[in-house]
Amino acid sequence: MEKFLKVVFSLFLLFFVSVTGFSKVKIGLSFATLAEERWKVDRDLFVAEAEKAGAEVIVVSANGDENLQNSQCENLITKGVNVLVVIAQNGETASSIVKSAQKAKIPVIAYDRMIKNCDLDLYVSFDSVKVGELMAEYVCKLKPKGNYFIINGSPTDNNAFLVRQGFENVLKKYPDAKVVFEQWCDGWSPEKALKHVENGLTQHKNKVDVILCANDGTAGGAVQALAEQKLAGKVLVTGQDAELAACKRVVAGTQAVTIYKPIKKLATAAAKAALELANKKPASEVNTKVNNGKIDVPSIMLVPIQVTKANMKSVIVADGFHSEKDIYGK
Ligand code: BGC
Repeated sequence: MEKFLKVVFSLFLLFFVSVTGFSKVKIGLSFATLAEERWKVDRDLFVAEAEKAGAEVIVVSANGDENLQNSQCENLITKGVNVLVVIAQNGETASSIVKSAQKAKIPVIAYDRMIKNCDLDLYVSFDSVKVGELMAEYVCKLKPKGNYFIINGSPTDNNAFLVRQGFENVLKKYPDAKVVFEQWCDGWSPEKALKHVENGLTQHKNKVDVILCANDGTAGGAVQALAEQKLAGKVLVTGQDAELAACKRVVAGTQAVTIYKPIKKLATAAAKAALELANKKPASEVNTKVNNGKIDVPSIMLVPIQVTKANMKSVIVADGFHSEKDIYGK
């Protein structure tokens, strides 16, 4: 009898699912890497938000390898995810992921990093030009005259170019801020930033006033190179992400500024949009369009916040991003 009831129930469930189309939404979430602190926060917030809405999230990470990311996404497509969310390692070559997904009628969301030259469904990010501007504005006001180094992010990440554009927008208003050294860091590598800054310091006999670093990871490398020359705290260094280590450097005075991008907003907006697209509805929070070289991609753009010693507590602590104890050690 029990067996019979089980069979009847399973048949009913099958009938219900096929008639109503009701089944658990499956989201593929593909990370370029999970090595940096921020991406683990993105993952946890996104998964929590999607699961709260009843979806299942399959998370994969490619350890900074664009080929691995492509094959991981192919795999997610084969598994029949309903929507794919991608943090691209390489914003150019990731277009092949979008093309494959499209063939399988799976919408794709570019999360934080644009995917270029394809029919992308949605882009959810912070304004990275603004990120660069906020960093440069803070240090240019303090040091309108002097020697500047620029340590850019990864040349395969569109955001690195947007941040660079932000630096430029501000630097052109400060003709006495002289860029004497500039380098790019593959994979946003802090070790590469360390080596570049060591070389820059040697080339310029330690004469540097400001190092515009594109994120907190690279800022960490730069500050290490400065410390080797007993210059940490004497040179203004920038970054973004409000990583805990960076917030500690800001209050200690070895990093001048970081940019806080409230990840909860990004992850929440992306998870909500993923569910909407999976259910064949348009994303309701779209607030602009951003061209990716092929189309104007419907986009959700969020606003970054400048953080210094002065507003560390009122922004980072108040938002619950890090605790006062974690930042100040008391
Ligand atoms: C993100 C930054 C991050 C960097 C390195 C960029 O695309 O916008 O927040 O620091 O990648 O992971």
